[in-house]
Amino acid sequence: MLKKFTLVALFVFHFPSVVFGDDLTVGKQLYEKGILPNGAPLVGIGASGLTLSGQEAACANCHRLSGMGGVEGKAFMPPIASHFLFNPREPALAVTDPSHPMGITVKSHAYGDDNLTSMIRTGINFEGRTVNPVMPRYALDDVAMKSLVAYLHQLSATPSKGVTPGELHFATVFTPEVDESTKRLIKNDIEAFVQQHNSNMSTAKRHRRIGFDRLRRETSNWVFHFWELKGESSTWTNQLEDYYKQQPVFALVSGVSFAPADSVHDFCENHQTPCLFRSVLFSAQTTSRYNLYFSKGMSLDAHLLATGLKSGVIKKPKHVIQIHSENVLGERVTAELGNRLDSLNITHHNMVLNADNLSVVRQTLHSLKSTDLVVCWCDQTDIDALGKISLPKEARIYFSGSLLMMKNGFKQFTGNWQKARLIYPYELPEKRLRQLSSFYSWVIGNQFKPVNEVLQSDTYISLLILQEAIAEMVDNLYKDYLVERVENIMGMGFDYWGMYSRPSLGPVERYANRSGYIVKFTAKQLVAESDRIVEE
Ligand code: HEC
Repeated sequence: MLKKFTLVALFVFHFPSVVFGDDLTVGKQLYEKGILPNGAPLVGIGASGLTLSGQEAACANCHRLSGMGGVEGKAFMPPIASHFLFNPREPALAVTDPSHPMGITVKSHAYGDDNLTSMIRTGINFEGRTVNPVMPRYALDDVAMKSLVAYLHQLSATPSKGVTPGELHFATVFTPEVDESTKRLIKNDIEAFVQQHNSNMSTAKRHRRIGFDRLRRETSNWVFHFWELKGESSTWTNQLEDYYKQQPVFALVSGVSFAPADSVHDFCENHQTPCLFRSVLFSAQTTSRYNLYFSKGMSLDAHLLATGLKSGVIKKPKHVIQIHSENVLGERVTAELGNRLDSLNITHHNMVLNADNLSVVRQTLHSLKSTDLVVCWCDQTDIDALGKISLPKEARIYFSGSLLMMKNGFKQFTGNWQKARLIYPYELPEKRLRQLSSFYSWVIGNQFKPVNEVLQSDTYISLLILQEAIAEMVDNLYKDYLVERVENIMGMGFDYWGMYSRPSLGPVERYANRSGYIVKFTAKQLVAESDRIVEE
């Protein structure tokens, strides 16, 4: 070991400009992270002579990972993916430029390695124009430049996996704990949407007009594959790999998990495949590029409760009792809230809800003190098992809105349970109805029944966003670009907000929804007991 180390050290000493790894890996580091071949941070001189360094100076920071560019404030970062720079014959097209009436960017640059190199160093482009100083100037040495140019040559040069002639392949994943009727419900919705999409596309193809108009749409047929996982969670990764080997897909879209399903998340990250808006009951991922979620489910509910306690919106109790089912979900969500309670110096303990200690739990609820607070991570089956219950006047019980609404299509508490509160990570009904107007027209238009508002609207909105994103991509079908477009669309307003209160996504924000309310139920109505709580 020591010997090897000495050898490498000597080698570096004698050849200081040597590049470790191949040009592409080194070029990728430079492009995406602003790391030079020798490990030092990339430095560029930007607008007003400002020095940018490391990640700030990285090309991807402005031109994005896909190289397809984008708009930030007033600045337009042009696409610099391979076919936009090195393709003098065929003009490359994208819909990004805000100064064009239809947002269209057409490039037929005749960059070669030499004038590209001098452009990056001096800011004078292929036609002799000095470009906007927002584009930094980089004094790169030949080694770094060579690897960067090699990287640009292959950047988004070929369509991603899952794109076949005339077809775009997607998958929807269900983990095995999801019941058959829920799977059927979501599959039916997806199949109906896809059928309508494909028939619109074939009309669009027939009516394709000349000129730029035709560019507004990518006209491939969508093909959806349903990946239904089976058995133990330890085997899910292999099942996903097998499915993907049989039919590579461009993205995973929609899908449902009622159990923690980290392996699906990891699969998407490993394959650099967008995973758009899987409805998950629980997710506590901290790093994600390819997974975008509407909500992290019960994990958000735990955070909202903790935020409410911290800010005083919810009166601080002396002690918290968490009641949960005997499964991984229960263990993980109680740990998640437990950590937050620790940092608030609130004592707490957990109670498992199963047939053996049903009466103990009932007794606990029966004799609650006003200084206690109960969080019941209970679904409808658990509530039914607890049955009719007598609760003291001062009892404070909170249920998880994600769990009840996502899993059970829950509408309201009845009987004595009306004393309970719901952590409600959704927009309040009146406003939500406006946000969901296109969903409800679609449901009614198709004579479908809205059985589960959360899952069905999540699914519908995710397909709507996919449709918008793919249309805007024209023929630039790259997985990274899909993620970037979807990030933008969420900010475009109401139509894409679904159930949620002001959701948004960004280069680092992967869970669109971060807020909710505390609500209670009167005989017929839902009443908000708090202002909007934004997760800390
Ligand atoms: C801070 C944002 C920013 C960063 C970082 C950045 N660029 Fe740019 N880049 C721009 C803008 C803005 C333009 C458009 C300038 C113009 O056309 O006037 C541009 C234009 C370009 C062009 C096209 C010039 C032309 O002829 O139209 C190339 C090529 C380019 N950048 C490459 C790179 C590379 C390679 C890196 C990383 C080493 C990089 N850029 C980093 C903002 C940036």
